[in-house]
Amino acid sequence: MKNIVLIGFMGSGKTTLGGKLANALKFQFLDTDQMLEKEFGCPISEFFAKEGEQVFRKRETKLLQDLAGALSNTVLATGGGMPLLAENAKLLQQIGRVYYLRASKESTIQRLLGDTSRPLLAEGALEEKVDRLLKERTPLYAAVADYILDTDGKSFYEMIEEVQRTFYQSKGNARRD
Ligand code: S3P
Repeated sequence: MKNIVLIGFMGSGKTTLGGKLANALKFQFLDTDQMLEKEFGCPISEFFAKEGEQVFRKRETKLLQDLAGALSNTVLATGGGMPLLAENAKLLQQIGRVYYLRASKESTIQRLLGDTSRPLLAEGALEEKVDRLLKERTPLYAAVADYILDTDGKSFYEMIEEVQRTFYQSKGNARRD
């Protein structure tokens, strides 16, 4: 198991950091949202509107089941709701070392202002939604994580450095080069 799994709230930077991190480590980069959009043949927001959240969650679980045991040298970025189901949480831990990208409520709101691609934020006041979902999800993210990476005020360079250092220090992930 030599993979890095990125979890965290919408807008925490999983996809952007994941791509840069994979480049730095010379790892493959995969993003579950992008893989699912390819499977669905439409954006996630459209799939949510047609099939609903529950069907989406089932497809997320199925994707993780397919990926578990099949990956190496991979950075896997995940959708913000992925660790919420206990079954998914277990699969994520099987796949790799789980990094929780934690951001404050304020920076999360800043990053999500004006976003129209995320169905869970589509209606109502952004601040209230983020506040409620963060309260629900923060303990679950923390419980699944092997490492909590605080992102506020850090550059990508600093975050990549922190992940590299903590990944190669952890058991079973010795650097080969
Ligand atoms: C979701 C987060 C989204 C996407 C879907 C549901 C969530 O991914 O999977 O809209 O439940 O938090 P991002 O975290 O990449 O925005």
